Amino acid sequence: AQTVRRTPEGAVTVGGIDVRKLAHEFGTPAYVLDETDFRARCRAWRDAFGADADVFYAGKAFLCRAVVRWLHEEGLNLDVCSGGELATALGAGMPAERIALHGNNKSQDEIERAVGAGVGRIVLDSFQEIVRVAHTAARLGVRQRVQLRVTVGVEAHTHEFIATAHEDQKFGLALAEGQAAEAVRRVLQLDSLELTGIHSHIGSQIFDMAGFEVSARRVVGLLAEVRDEHGIELPEIDLGGGLGIAYTSEDDPAEPHDIAKALRDIVTRECEGAALAVPRLSVEPGRAIVGPTAFTLYEVGTLKELEGLRTYVSVDGGMSDNIRTALYDAEYSVALVSRSSPAPPMLSRVVGKHCESGDIVVRDAFLPADLGPGDLLAVPATGAYCRSMASNYNHALRPPVVAVRDGAARVIVRRETEEDLLRLDVG
Ligand code: LLP
Repeated sequence: AQTVRRTPEGAVTVGGIDVRKLAHEFGTPAYVLDETDFRARCRAWRDAFGADADVFYAGKAFLCRAVVRWLHEEGLNLDVCSGGELATALGAGMPAERIALHGNNKSQDEIERAVGAGVGRIVLDSFQEIVRVAHTAARLGVRQRVQLRVTVGVEAHTHEFIATAHEDQKFGLALAEGQAAEAVRRVLQLDSLELTGIHSHIGSQIFDMAGFEVSARRVVGLLAEVRDEHGIELPEIDLGGGLGIAYTSEDDPAEPHDIAKALRDIVTRECEGAALAVPRLSVEPGRAIVGPTAFTLYEVGTLKELEGLRTYVSVDGGMSDNIRTALYDAEYSVALVSRSSPAPPMLSRVVGKHCESGDIVVRDAFLPADLGPGDLLAVPATGAYCRSMASNYNHALRPPVVAVRDGAARVIVRRETEEDLLRLDVG
């Protein structure tokens, strides 16, 4: 969050509000989301890509109605990948033409709702789906704009990328196998589909632009093949999301402006090389927009010192509100935020309250040795893939999302209650 400060007595404020007040008013654990920061990041991406490109926020990172309204107001588009995300987007007033529908196994119902609503883009992911979307559009009497998702044989994760001829995964249609070219042929034969471009998404938490470079080169290669075979130049190219953020001080993410420039330069160069007009570029950042804008606020419960090893600091949440440490070995930092402490550092492991030992929030952290029950801890950079991947494991109640801005806080997703849980239990 950008609006984090410390009060003279050492408590942290965000958006002008003391975290102790937030904990008192909304309880813990809670995700605290800095609306000012969220909007600033939207604008930074929008401005960096300019009027001749589109930024689709990837809703899977975190989506709720307030977020949809902010995106709308800040001029971003929205990528959804399920009926639930689509309903949230439409329900909060995102114009359908600014929505793109993704997914490797969209249901007939999802396709019908998307086509019926008039979404601006459906990203086709398989041969079956080409037919399904075409039939649905024909039946509804519309011409649906679609992109084709291709796998370019590049897999990028964090600081490295690998280029492989054959990718063994479920998404998209392989360029190398000629599947992508065959898919283009089939789409072009169907009157109810308008093929606007090619889509590629290569991975997550990427810092190295080399993977995008290979991806863009191969996508442009397909555009050139399409021109040579069919005599048409597809007007759009989408390079997906995946731009990394700083989870710890070791990560050094690029600014949207530099990312936009790098992607534009790559696409322009490749298109010039292939004598193609430069297509309209779009990207789909999720984590890079929402990730840094929120932190999770926890209260410390029990502490256990393992002599010569570390201190286990238990908080009132855990893997139900942040599965990423257990699932991906993700690294987070943590800070004492309810006061400052002169105590020496103590090697700690911040763990949750769930019934398994993999329930770790922050594997290794130094926290003040005088830490005790009732202290508040904040784990930064939990805006992406934490609330959206939260579970009810052990019948945990999923925490609220509290948006802060200019000294005011409001709940945008409320805390679950036991009634919420029991309502589903109809046996
Ligand atoms: N576009 C497509 C087609 C995607 O599949 C994804 C993410 C994105 C955009 C957004 O990627 P981002 O910019 O947020 O990295 N649960 C994992 C991340 C899975 C991402 C899946 N697809 C995590 O917590 O790291």
